[in-house]
Amino acid sequence: MKVDGTEFVHDDILAIGDVRDPYPVYRRLRERGEVLEIDLRAEFGLGGEQTFDRVRSFAVLSYPAVRAAFNSTALSNAVYQNYLGIVTGPSILEMDEPEHAALRKTIASAFKPSALQTWMDGFIRPAAHELARAVAEHGHGELVADLAFQLPMRAICAMLGVPAIDWKRFSRWSEVFITVAYDPSAGVPVEREMGEYMRALIAEKRANPGEDLASLLLAATVDGRALTDDEIVNFLRLLLPAGAETTFRGASVMLWVLLSRPDLAARVAADRGLVSRFVDETLRWDPPTHNVPRIAARDLDLAGTAIPAGSFVTICPAAANRDPDVWPDPDVFDLDRQTRSPATFGNGPHHCLGYQLARLEMMATLEAVLDELPGMRFAPDAGDPHIYGMAMRAVSGLPVVR
Ligand code: HEM
Repeated sequence: MKVDGTEFVHDDILAIGDVRDPYPVYRRLRERGEVLEIDLRAEFGLGGEQTFDRVRSFAVLSYPAVRAAFNSTALSNAVYQNYLGIVTGPSILEMDEPEHAALRKTIASAFKPSALQTWMDGFIRPAAHELARAVAEHGHGELVADLAFQLPMRAICAMLGVPAIDWKRFSRWSEVFITVAYDPSAGVPVEREMGEYMRALIAEKRANPGEDLASLLLAATVDGRALTDDEIVNFLRLLLPAGAETTFRGASVMLWVLLSRPDLAARVAADRGLVSRFVDETLRWDPPTHNVPRIAARDLDLAGTAIPAGSFVTICPAAANRDPDVWPDPDVFDLDRQTRSPATFGNGPHHCLGYQLARLEMMATLEAVLDELPGMRFAPDAGDPHIYGMAMRAVSGLPVVR
């Protein structure tokens, strides 16, 4: 994928194989049991070896079992130390209770709704419009590279109060984040570079505080506890994989649906009240993250399945989001569904800290496309644009004309 003249390859890496429609497999597995002892990659006919291939491996598939897994204190997030933790350092994502709750409370106090609204009005909405307008001016474009990928990266720059051009540097780092599952050594120099960058940033914000996230984190205290510099740096490093990699994939899938379903596009264009429902139904129907890892810290029972300590457990939000006991006709993308809480953003102690931000960014993306690119359609030579991938979803490309 070429973004603003620079070649990025990373959306192919974690997608793993050309799995276009994993849902029949999820359905078949879920019918066998809510929790199964299986090698998920083998079920999809995929090979390759990963860090935990030599231990017993379970997949969690039904909606109630997925919720229970997200809330289970027997399942540890320390598993992330082998992936993202190589680049972020010890962040809240890889911590267990009670250490996690204490740190998360202080970090969360900086994510005030007022700050979110300031970023949305001051930056995210105008930036989405600017990117969509550039495509409109050219008369054609590729909406993953030109819009969906850039907006969350640029939003992080705005939140951190750093120059907008730094989004390119963030994108480079972001590429490495998702390769560490396969090549841990690739993460080491990036951990250092990002650390130096974030440390310089917080030194500057300490001297000149503003309304940016680094300044808010420096000022945050809960029960008299302030954050250490290391805690802030590690959290800021987490923002890229947690916030940008996920949101850009969600926005890409949303735009694919918009382009593939002119009936739905016409409805949302005529009734902007449907924008948030379009976003929420996208996030239910095909969420960006299909696998959330855990390691069993002790023996446990999950929905009637005994899982021994030391097992690798894959929580499958996408399988849960198509559980027919919760969503009738789950494969149908339906704007008239009653609001329910999909498994997309997790649940329990590690429930996504940025879910409102992600929804706002996707809403801004959709509004910008409806405003700036009315009549947009797939380019005649677009080929076969499709959603694919197993661990994380990617869109092969969205070449459009208007
Ligand atoms: C945690 C999904 C966007 C920040 C999580 C978790 C999921 C998730 C499933 C739980 C992981 C676990 O239990 O192991 C998503 C999706 C997003 C998204 C699908 C986009 C569509 C964002 C954004 C931010 C963010 C924009 C930026 C602030 C975080 C953080 C955590 C987290 C900091 C860790 C929370 C903790 O460990 O207590 N996210 N996320 N996410 N997310 Fe998001």
